[in-house]
Amino acid sequence: MTIHSVAIAAYLVAALLFIMSLAGLSKHETAKQGIWFGIWGMAIALVATISLAVVGEEGHEGMTTLGIALMAVAVIAGAAIGLWRARVVQMTGMPELIALLHSFVGLAAVLVGWAAFYTVEAQGDAQTEIAPDLLGIHHGEVIVGVFIGAVTFTGSIVAFLKLSARIDSKPLMLPGKNALNIGALAVFVVLTVLFVIQPNIGFLIAGTVLALLLGWHLVASIGGGDMPVVVSMLNSYSGWAAAASGFLLGNNLLIVTGALVGSSGAYLSYIMCEAMNRSFISVIAGGFGIEAPTSGDTDYGDHREITAAETAELLSEASSVIITPGYGMAVAQAQYPVAELTRQLREKGVNVRFGIHPVAGRLPGHMNVLLAEAKVPYDIVLEMDEINDDFPSTDVVLVIGANDTVNPAAEDDPTSPIAGMPVLRVWEAKDVIVFKRSMAVGYAGVQNPLFFRPNTAMLFGDAKERVEDILKAL
Ligand code: TAP
Repeated sequence: MTIHSVAIAAYLVAALLFIMSLAGLSKHETAKQGIWFGIWGMAIALVATISLAVVGEEGHEGMTTLGIALMAVAVIAGAAIGLWRARVVQMTGMPELIALLHSFVGLAAVLVGWAAFYTVEAQGDAQTEIAPDLLGIHHGEVIVGVFIGAVTFTGSIVAFLKLSARIDSKPLMLPGKNALNIGALAVFVVLTVLFVIQPNIGFLIAGTVLALLLGWHLVASIGGGDMPVVVSMLNSYSGWAAAASGFLLGNNLLIVTGALVGSSGAYLSYIMCEAMNRSFISVIAGGFGIEAPTSGDTDYGDHREITAAETAELLSEASSVIITPGYGMAVAQAQYPVAELTRQLREKGVNVRFGIHPVAGRLPGHMNVLLAEAKVPYDIVLEMDEINDDFPSTDVVLVIGANDTVNPAAEDDPTSPIAGMPVLRVWEAKDVIVFKRSMAVGYAGVQNPLFFRPNTAMLFGDAKERVEDILKAL
């Protein structure tokens, strides 16, 4: 048995572990197990790939000592930085970290494409080991791989900058932006045909620059409200970029893994678009067909304030309560007192449930993770569709640090940037208490008419402190 055949078997095991990992991640109960399958799959994949590189694939020499040393330095440095970032990142900073990691996959695909160019095309067709009939396919793989990688690279950097509020999250509205995107694609098709016929470095440079600009423009054109879909879409692109690298490197596991990431990311984007009533095609095409929203300066009148003690009184008289958490609960780390409040109210016989919007917080499942961390029972944590019809028969709704996900303008105001996005219809309950620190807008940057409704009262201050005050008063 050669190292080569052991590595092929290891690749098969790793691919199966990745599939089991995805299956595990699809449910709360099995998510941790899913993570472990993924860790083992990746560990096996790394050991197999490194062993193959060191020993050399069949008929090829292994790496030189310098090569091994350089790879060891890269692996150790990468692992150290990865471990450090994963330990220090806050849950609320997760989406931007993920966006940044996608940009690395994109950059790696560009570098692999360029390296493949230098080992094959730049040597001249006669010098390569690739059968002449297959050379055209190789040229095609190089330029397509570089293109997908470069779009992913700059697109992910813009997503990182928008999510971390380093640049404005408003959509960039260049005149004729749709024509620019379609034009760039058409030019890329022409460049690909030319490069396949004559693999000239000029075409590859032009293709790379074009893809870098297109990636930047595609994501810059999408507004902050649609960013969750963009992150999952870039996740999908990074998968396809990895698969393209897999073809170039002749690595089957990379092709399988890339396809798994690519298709699951695309499916997640599709589900999120459905949940937010956004057109999937429009979002992947850089906000195709979306016009700049008109900013509403509507005067909604005055808001009403309430104290923690008054809220405690309302709660002690209620028989049904729904809590709709949002990004502010994560910022305040209020999930622990919220879990305690839930426990105490349930002990008094109050029917307490949670309503979770699909994009509450800053990443898919953000609220579910926080509530699970604070040991809130899964069976009272319901999805938006499961709970949205129950608000009219609810006494009190506690909106804890949520804003866009409970904004009635999404249903009533067709000019709102979040128009059409399904929201939690909290205003249909008898009383609504909104926990936030000020009258500031939420992530999408729009005012929320909910705060001015007659049955809504604002409980200002840090969500954690206010929930603790309620616990004291109770
Ligand atoms: P947001 O609309 O982001 O609003 C959060 C609210 O929490 C803010 O209005 C803020 O008001 C309040 N807040 C912040 N810190 C607080 C604290 N310490 N105590 C009390 N309140 C605090 O929240 P949401 O309803 O969860 O909506 C999520 C938004 O993020 C959507 O627009 C969504 O599209 C977007 N997004 C989602 C994702 C995913 S996948 N979930 C990813 C990226 C973006 P004050 O400043 O006045 O306190």
